[in-house]
Amino acid sequence: MTTDALKWWETAVIYQIYPRSFQDSNDDGIGDLPGITSRLDYIAGLGVDAIWISPFFQSPQKDFGYDVSDYCQINPEYGSISDFDNLMTRAHELGLKVMIDIVPAHCSDEHAWFQESRQSRDNPKADWFHWVDPMPDGSAPTNWLSFFGGRAWTWEPRRQQYYLHNFLPSQPNLNHANADVQKALTDVAKFWFDKGVDGFRLDAVHTINADTAPYQNNKANVDFVPGDLPQQQQPFFRQLHDSAQLNQPAIQTFSEAFRAVADTYDDRFLMGELHGDDPVKASQTFTAPGRLHATYNFNLLAWAGLSVDELKTAITQAIEAFNGTGRLTFAFSNHDVPRSVSRQMNALNLTPKDQDALQLLLLQLETSLIGSTCVYQGEELGLEDVTDIPIDKMQDPWGIEFAPEFLGRDTCRTPMVWKANAPNGGFSNANSTWLPIAEGHLKRAGLEEASKPASIYQKYSNFLKWRRAQPAFTHANEMSEITGNAHQIIFDRISDQQTLRCCFDFKSLVATFEEA
Ligand code: BGC
Repeated sequence: MTTDALKWWETAVIYQIYPRSFQDSNDDGIGDLPGITSRLDYIAGLGVDAIWISPFFQSPQKDFGYDVSDYCQINPEYGSISDFDNLMTRAHELGLKVMIDIVPAHCSDEHAWFQESRQSRDNPKADWFHWVDPMPDGSAPTNWLSFFGGRAWTWEPRRQQYYLHNFLPSQPNLNHANADVQKALTDVAKFWFDKGVDGFRLDAVHTINADTAPYQNNKANVDFVPGDLPQQQQPFFRQLHDSAQLNQPAIQTFSEAFRAVADTYDDRFLMGELHGDDPVKASQTFTAPGRLHATYNFNLLAWAGLSVDELKTAITQAIEAFNGTGRLTFAFSNHDVPRSVSRQMNALNLTPKDQDALQLLLLQLETSLIGSTCVYQGEELGLEDVTDIPIDKMQDPWGIEFAPEFLGRDTCRTPMVWKANAPNGGFSNANSTWLPIAEGHLKRAGLEEASKPASIYQKYSNFLKWRRAQPAFTHANEMSEITGNAHQIIFDRISDQQTLRCCFDFKSLVATFEEA
């Protein structure tokens, strides 16, 4: 009989903070680290186990921090290293683990590494990025596309070569075949582990590339169906990627190097964001012994939401591969997709009168599955997606490129609101904020909801506190097959001490838990 609880990360509920939009402390209209620290009591009160903070490192902010120009410095608009230390201390006092977001696949074109590398073919960092000669006709070396649109190769006149980027041209891909690159990145890991961080969310690990020329073309995805994909992602998904551009076997040397570093510290967690042609299979490879602890699962993040039947399929597909383990992390929402309650209201044909009940049900469902869960800031309030941001106020480069047909990712990134009647909902005293405050969110202001017994925040908090005392959730990562009629998702969570039947009814919008 297993009497020990699982490790923290195998069952953790992780609250994702998008720092730019959480809390401003110096009235510049941009959230910052001291702002986060001032709101840690609110997060701890919810009953989550950990926070994950999206990037706050030095960066020109072309992709809002996912374009890092120095991995060990804080971007001044977010604060200083001592602000980070204060945040860590307070989080640990409150019993919260702290995860930060490391971007190992690419950096900013303003990083000193790229600035040097792009100068010539023979400087000390000449081989730190993917530099490739043009084809005889001058064109790019392969047919690879960037996830944000257009080609994945950009021309550098100084070297007379192309360089690789899977996202913006200002996010050049690091060359992981170079041992010095790997060493520089493991040094980054040590720097933050030494500061006491409990884990990393590793950005876009599937796009790490360690290949060298000749690079292979991607094959056409002959089974491509647009489905619910936004128009802007369709060219990218008309190709298959896993035999050339993404998820290459050499990535595992990176996973192993990072794991070796993590294992020299106590109880640290590596969670990799991963996508691909067959993400579940790739996740198994990435989380094989000696590699990452878990990967971030995209099954519940479908852009247009999922019907009950699709939810069952999405969960089953992930569980079949990982039952009995904590090697996966589920999420319904993050800073890259429209907010969960809006997507799911749409997919399930529900209306705003169902918003609260649906949001609570989604939170309870994802947190009842095996493995860890990431909850995105504002889900605990039932915040809806913000689709009326004027074009001249948009910030996301991907959205700006394709507006107005595509709204990009600003819709889920508007600032948190804390008090309905305070300036900017209590987010900031500035005259204007980096993205507008969503008026519709004011009736769901965080500090006010946290003190109402009937709010989603309070009900979810009660659920999380109850969950911590259930061995079926804390002592084993086992679940039965999913059953239930067309509007139900039913499964058992099973440990040696307890079997809990979990039922999520999408008609009554109520979850019930019964001990067998
Ligand atoms: C992050 C995005 C970012 C991209 C490039 C992702 O997966 O979540 O926000 O734009 O990586 O770094």
